[in-house]
Amino acid sequence: MKIILTGCTGVIGSAVLQQCLHNLSITSIVVLSRRPLSSHFSSPKLKVIILNDFLTYPDEVLAQLDDAQACIWALGGMASKYPNVETAREVNIEYPLAAAAAIIVHLRTQKGDGRRFRFLSVSGMSAVRDMNIKLCMFKDSRQIKGELENRMIDLAERNPDSFEVFLARVGTVIPKDNCTLSIIGSLTAGIQPIIGADELAVAMVDIALNGAETELVLHEELVARGKVSASDSG
Ligand SMILES: NC(=O)c1ccc[n+]([C@@H]2O[C@H](COP(=O)([O-])OP(=O)(O)OC[C@H]3O[C@@H](n4cnc5c(N)ncnc54)[C@H](OP(=O)(O)O)[C@@H]3O)[C@@H](O)[C@H]2O)c1
Repeated sequence: MKIILTGCTGVIGSAVLQQCLHNLSITSIVVLSRRPLSSHFSSPKLKVIILNDFLTYPDEVLAQLDDAQACIWALGGMASKYPNVETAREVNIEYPLAAAAAIIVHLRTQKGDGRRFRFLSVSGMSAVRDMNIKLCMFKDSRQIKGELENRMIDLAERNPDSFEVFLARVGTVIPKDNCTLSIIGSLTAGIQPIIGADELAVAMVDIALNGAETELVLHEELVARGKVSASDSG
């Protein structure tokens, strides 16, 4: 499978990229990034496209995505990471929607093999899809993830023959080799469940390859699929 990845300079995306490089079912990887990746990511099956603008996809970029069958979108972050909520909304909602819409239009120009393109985005376990619910904590981030889910599912429903979407409702992700966060994460796991970045990456690549039963993939399923797929492949 040829796969498109984003967020590969980050915690989740770099683990997903590592997993894709090891997985024999992934034969070609196109990374969309605003800056080069760490030099330890190198493989004949890896191609990195540096994008300055994640809202527009010129033909020469789309041509390099030809024959891709899935995308794992791990670009973005908490609203507090951005200068204002408008920027956080643009990065976390408009960027993935623009990519998905461009892919859908591009698919119409290709012959295709009848399979639907799989778009898997990281969401969050505290995402809220009902904008009328009053929220005391992390309101912007939770509503942004909820709106992303609503609009992605709507896009998939409007393109049922060519496109399917999965949203990973993950809890706290523990970065690889981060002892401090591993300890804090274990202590707070009763409040917010945790998953290792590698385990999540295994689960997400498994979903990209095999799909999932439902559009919203809950944390517990990600943990289970991360474990099962890892033991399958090991
Ligand atoms: N980590 C968690 O515990 C957790 C839990 C639930 C959901 N999530 C979600 O998962 C996604 C990835 O999280 P993460 O922990 O891997 O984050 P991260 O380590 O901060 O990585 C974020 C990635 O997104 C890219 N990015 C961010 N803003 C960008 C922009 N304006 N333009 C282009 N690229 C941009 C970063 O690129 P640069 O390196 O160039 O900045 C990086 O590759 C986010 O949507 C986050 O909300 C994370």
